[in-house]
Formats: sequence, C-alpha cells, structure tokens
Amino acid sequence: MYASSAPQGHRLSPAPPSSSSNAGRAGASPPVSLLAPGVESDPFPLYRTLREGYPLVRDELLGAWLLSRYADVRGALADARLGPVRAGPGPACRRLLEPALRAAAERTAYVLARRMAGRREVDLVAEFSAWLPAAAAVAALGLPWEEAARVQEWCRTGPAHLGGSHPELGGLLRSHVARRRARPGADLLSVLCGARVDGHALSDETVTGLAGTLLTGGGEATALALASFLANLLDHPAQLELVRARPGLIPGAWAESLRRDPPTHVVLRRATAPIALGGTTLPTGAVVACLVGSAGRDPFRFADPDRFDIFRADPAHLAFGAGRHFCPAATLAGLAAECGLRALLDVMPGLRWAPGFRSAPQGLMARAPRRLLVRPC
Ligand code: HEM
Repeated sequence: MYASSAPQGHRLSPAPPSSSSNAGRAGASPPVSLLAPGVESDPFPLYRTLREGYPLVRDELLGAWLLSRYADVRGALADARLGPVRAGPGPACRRLLEPALRAAAERTAYVLARRMAGRREVDLVAEFSAWLPAAAAVAALGLPWEEAARVQEWCRTGPAHLGGSHPELGGLLRSHVARRRARPGADLLSVLCGARVDGHALSDETVTGLAGTLLTGGGEATALALASFLANLLDHPAQLELVRARPGLIPGAWAESLRRDPPTHVVLRRATAPIALGGTTLPTGAVVACLVGSAGRDPFRFADPDRFDIFRADPAHLAFGAGRHFCPAATLAGLAAECGLRALLDVMPGLRWAPGFRSAPQGLMARAPRRLLVRPC
C-alpha cells in the first residue's frame, strides 16, 4: 500500500495477510460496516478485523474506503492527492494566540474547578470539560462571559471543525472587532486588531476568521479529548498520582490519551486524483476514511496497544492528522488540557470516580465518554 505501509510486524505475522497479499482483498466488502449497530460503542473488534484482513476496503453503507493500519492511515493523511484544505492560523498568528490563550485557560479552569470543589459528586463533562475550551477562548478574546454558553452550543452542534462555521458567529465577532478598533483594550481581540504580521495590519476579515477559528474551530474536539484524558487518568489512579506529583508528565500523558482514545476516530479525505492503493485504483472524488482510532491501536506499531501508559516511549499518535493538514492548533488544544488538569488536581486533592461509576465512550466521528461522575474530595 503506502511505501511505509508494510510494517515489519504485518509482514512477519503468520495470521494477518501481508500488505501485498492484501491486495487481493482490497475492495472486498468488510464483514460489518462502520455504521452497523453497536460499532459506535465498541469499534475495536471491527478495527482488528479490518487491520488483519481488510486493510483497504469499501464500506458501501458509509460510502467510503476504509484504511485501518497505522502506516496506511499515516500515509493517507500525509498524501497530497487527498484533500480537503482548510485555512488555519499560521505560525505568526499562533505566536500571538498562545500566551493569551494560556492565561485565559488557566483562569477559566480554576473558575470552573472551584465551582465544583466541596460538592459530594459532580459530572466533569457537564461542569468542566465541555465548557473549558469555549469559555477559555471567550475569556481570551475579552468577549462577555455570557457568550460562553452560545459559543459552547455552536461548538457542540456546528460543523466547525469539519470546515464550516456558525452563521451567527461572524455577526457577533464583527461587532466586537469594530468596537476594539475604536477603543482597544488589553484582550486578545484588541491585540489581533493592532497586530502587524509580516509588516501588514490584519484585516477585519482575518481577525474575525482567526477569532472564529479559536472560538469554535476545535472546541468540540478539545472538549472530547479532555473528557477521554480525564477518564484515562481516573481509570489509572497510580498514574494520576504520578502526574499530580510531577506535572512535567502531563504532555506525555495527553499524547498517550490521544493515541489510545482520539476524539475523532474517522478523518475523511477526498481523492483529488486517481490513487493506486493496494492493487485498487481509487477514482477522483473517492472518499477515504482514515481510521485514526484503529491506527492508534495497531499492535504492529504499538506494543500492548490497549494499555494506557503515560511512560510509553513513542506515542506518535495521529489524532491531529499528519503532513500538510496537520492540525495547526495542536499546541492550543494541549494548553487547554494541561491547564484543565492542573487546576482540577490542585483544587480537588481527592479526585476519584464516584463509587460504582464506569465511563463509557460513545461515537466515532466524535468519540468520548458523555458523563464522568466523580467525587471531588
Ligand atoms: C484535541 C483537539 C483537536 C484535535 C484532535 C484536532 C484534530 C485535527 C485533525 C485530525 C485535523 C486534520 C484533518 C484532515 O487531515 O483533514 C485538524 C485540522 C485542523 N484543525 Fe484541529 N484538532 C483539535 C483542535 C483544534 C483547535 C483547538 C483548533 C482551532 C483553534 C483547530 C483547528 C484546525 C484547523 C483550522 C484545521 C485544518 C488544517 C488544514 O487543513 O490545513 N483544531 N485538526
């Protein structure tokens, strides 16, 4: 398949067919579709079947070609013949966004965490992870706090991370941009209005675009990833205690959680030219579903892939994509996760699951536990 897609393990393993012998099965129908009942709650048996026997296969129900092995998913994500292209914040703009977002994420995480402290039992999704990304972006931009609820709803329901944006968002931002141009303040929106990138002031359109991306671009993905991150740590109290004692371990723990439980299991790409893969030629326009959730559990890439291990030497996850479409806001998402976890651990010294509670991730395009019932102290 892709040049790097014959990982040694796949070739050496007696059970799964090799990349070249898979060519004969490319195009055969998979035993079950990604849309079959039950797959949303537990896709892992299907992923295993696909990786072992159907590494490139057409899912008629989904209307897409499925790629499930780590090396193939990585290759497809980085393949220039597979779109789409969506504009994200460039490096110069990211340098403007990061400090303001870090400060706002820290403040917001503490506000949300302190509201829960002292209570007997709370749901960390309803009161924390679902709010933090949107509320931190609202705070960083200096928008009224009341807007957080609207923005959070747009993140949750909108097509934002897939390339669209909510129609009301532009109107909201344009009025705030006009006010900041007239009377600048100390917030990020004012900073963007006054910024010069490569010697040029940013146009209203660029400022609104950047602010809009920050508000809704990846808020939902970040919220879901944060929920899975918290669930993984709560499921492993010894690792949670290590992270509490040594916050320097947080980035590795976050990467490991993104490998094991990415918020988007399926990244869709479209062929912009015919592509020969595994003995099959996909026509222009063919939709390829890169199963990032399967790639992260590929045993030929990761030893004991179902295990959550914050000390894994090389998580090398594909949750943010790969190649030229790699998520431009990966650092911003990491900031929200790090600030969120630090605040929770600081404010809730005894944080643990509520008795008898087990988290249950749901969904494929947007996967995470929908409830996280905990005892804060
Ligand atoms: C944990 C959180 C996040 C995850 C897992 C994630 C994941 C991804 C993935 C997989 C892609 C590549 C899609 C493709 O290849 O077609 C992507 C692209 C993108 N993401 Fe994120 N993202 C996250 C957070 C964010 C945030 C917070 C923002 C905005 C502030 C953002 C903005 C974007 C943009 C603009 C692109 C398009 C890049 C391009 O096509 O060149 N993401 N993201």
